[in-house]
Amino acid sequence: MKKDVEIIKNESLLKEIVAPLLSWYDLNKRDLPWRHNSTPYRVWISEIMLQQTRVDPVIPYYQRFMETFPDVQTLATASEDLLMKHWEGLGYYSRARNLQKAARQIVEMGDFPTDYDGWLKLPGIGNYTAGAICSIALGLPTPAVDGNVLRVLSRILCSEMDIASAEVKTAFTKALSKVYPSGKTSEFTQSLMELGATVCLPNGEPLCDQCPVRDFCIARREERTDEIPVKAPKKQRKIEKKTVFILRYGNEVALHQRPDKGLLAKLWEFPNVGSALTPNEVMTLLKDWNPLEIKRLSDSTHIFSHIEWHMRGYEVSLGVKNADYEWVTIHKALEEKAIPSAFRCYLNHLKDLRYEEI
Ligand code: ADE
Repeated sequence: MKKDVEIIKNESLLKEIVAPLLSWYDLNKRDLPWRHNSTPYRVWISEIMLQQTRVDPVIPYYQRFMETFPDVQTLATASEDLLMKHWEGLGYYSRARNLQKAARQIVEMGDFPTDYDGWLKLPGIGNYTAGAICSIALGLPTPAVDGNVLRVLSRILCSEMDIASAEVKTAFTKALSKVYPSGKTSEFTQSLMELGATVCLPNGEPLCDQCPVRDFCIARREERTDEIPVKAPKKQRKIEKKTVFILRYGNEVALHQRPDKGLLAKLWEFPNVGSALTPNEVMTLLKDWNPLEIKRLSDSTHIFSHIEWHMRGYEVSLGVKNADYEWVTIHKALEEKAIPSAFRCYLNHLKDLRYEEI
């Protein structure tokens, strides 16, 4: 109970920020592709891509995606390989699979949902995304409260509540929904996101001088923007060591498809084992396939939300193909197989090998 009370204590302030935020957004918004022709389809795709990924890297992916899959019917019937190839490098690949599942449901239903609860029922859509789509594309007063927006609101209201908590998020969502300006729901949602992304920056570095609502902000007045928002520390990530192999046989390399379920499901990867091997251990492991030459590659780390992969790499030329793997030309591996960016370091090595070949 205390949590709601504390947020609601200064809630009346939220009414005051609407007009200055809208004026500021009108003058300062970034020109982003999904801000043109904001149909439910275009907004939906953008919001899914923007879950967990920053705006700048999303833009080229979004543009390419829209060229290849311009409407929900095309997305519903696309091949999984083509879809995953368009997602390669964006990470969190279940987002792409859920997009296609949802596209098929939408086609079956005959049209896009027209309200919040309808969107919420689709795969991959949670409160935040449903709120964003409904307010941006449908004109409904449904807040979209993500980390950026929580930071903005916590600072304005000087809330010390933990923004990692679901109750706090719900309380902010409720409070915000009461002040949504009708006819300007898209602009209001995006003005909050925009302020969080470009002015009310995290880690004690907000650009308060540029903020259109600085005069209302209690954290600023009390010089506490470096303490607020309060966020409970995350659990430590689990570290997994790996040895990754670029196995070569002439012009071909070995790839392995990951299991149907779990991390990076069904994507392609370089063969690897779950420990850090020395060159001698590698030669022993691969002895049945007549290893001819071994080269140590750079070490690489990839950070997922809950796990870190600490990888060491080897390029090994084999005299015999290991039949457990799919062998493809370097060109095909790079152009047609969706290999996640966790392997970027070794993918880059493969690109160098392709140029050597030419
Ligand atoms: N992040 C999530 N949704 C966004 C949007 N519509 N514009 C900018 N950044 C966003």
